[in-house]
Amino acid sequence: MIKIGDVELKGNVILGPMAGVTCLAYREFMKPFGVALSYSEMISDCGIAYENQRTLDYLQTSNLDTPVGLQLFGFDIKNTEKAIQIMENCAKYDILDVNLGCPVHKVTKTGAGSSWLRDVPKLYDYMKRVCEVSSKPVTAKIRLGWDEKSINVFEVSECLEKAGVQAITVHCRTKEQGYAGKPNYEAIKGLKERLGIPLFVSGDIFTLNDAINSVNITHADGVMVARGGIGNPNLVRQIDHYFKTGERLPEASVLEQIDYARQYATKLVEQKGEVLAIKELKGILPHFFSGFPGYKKFRVRFTVNMSSVDDMEAIFHGIEREIQIPAR
Ligand SMILES: Cc1cc2nc3c(=O)[nH]c(=O)nc-3n(C[C@H](O)[C@H](O)[C@H](O)COP(=O)(O)O)c2cc1C
Repeated sequence: MIKIGDVELKGNVILGPMAGVTCLAYREFMKPFGVALSYSEMISDCGIAYENQRTLDYLQTSNLDTPVGLQLFGFDIKNTEKAIQIMENCAKYDILDVNLGCPVHKVTKTGAGSSWLRDVPKLYDYMKRVCEVSSKPVTAKIRLGWDEKSINVFEVSECLEKAGVQAITVHCRTKEQGYAGKPNYEAIKGLKERLGIPLFVSGDIFTLNDAINSVNITHADGVMVARGGIGNPNLVRQIDHYFKTGERLPEASVLEQIDYARQYATKLVEQKGEVLAIKELKGILPHFFSGFPGYKKFRVRFTVNMSSVDDMEAIFHGIEREIQIPAR
């Protein structure tokens, strides 16, 4: 069993933090599929330190959402310390994660996110202090390095462990790669054997075979599912089940996908209200029906013809009718 500090995980699949996606509703929806630990979207330590209400809303968790890690990004230990104090007073969570991998310019230009990978001694001081201040176990999410010429994932991981970090996830791309190109799992071969803390692998986990392959190469303790789980929660179930039993579960049917999509939409509408939820669902619901030949028309309808829950239901009914009377 994987243990992160005193937090025991019931499996080996963790849910990757995704800004704009992994809100409370998404995490609650995904959990029963076999998520052993989920992470919030990244949260600005300044936003918390200055008690910005919209930022504080990101700290929301629930009893269904446990164990959960809240992910901070920052660059100034004073703000980070203040944010942690506020979080410890007003939020309920199990793990504090620090984002050391975000490639977005708006974030890196401040010195946060993957910018940290460029100054390991400074990173050590920062993370050591974070670990001292936090009463919760601290984890970190990193990339292979800043660019192809400066891959330093071994050095950074060892520095983080020394600083007191209790688990590390490596997105096996460099900052320069962003989300393009293939993740390089080979680059962290041997890292697991050098660390005394759990290691998770991230990057292009879109199928069960991707998960198996990434673990075979890296010997990581588990995998982080991110984009691959959007609209395909069954992927988490397949990976979790395989790691526990060695058995392969089938793909979800269209009927099951309608059920999952409805469950998620209902949660999101409950938590965010119809207007905001529908706006977000336009980007998410099409994913539930990708990979099914002939369903493009429905995917388009979610983005173009949906402005209310009634519209959404009408599209679901259209799909249900299509299953019963397959088009010739
Ligand atoms: C839309 C989006 C938002 C993301 N937001 C975050 C974030 O807030 N914090 C973080 O550490 N990683 C973030 N990531 C990176 C993912 O957690 C993950 O490491 C990355 O997508 C690689 O995994 P995948 O190829 O399986 O999606 C984000 C990725 C995407 C696509």
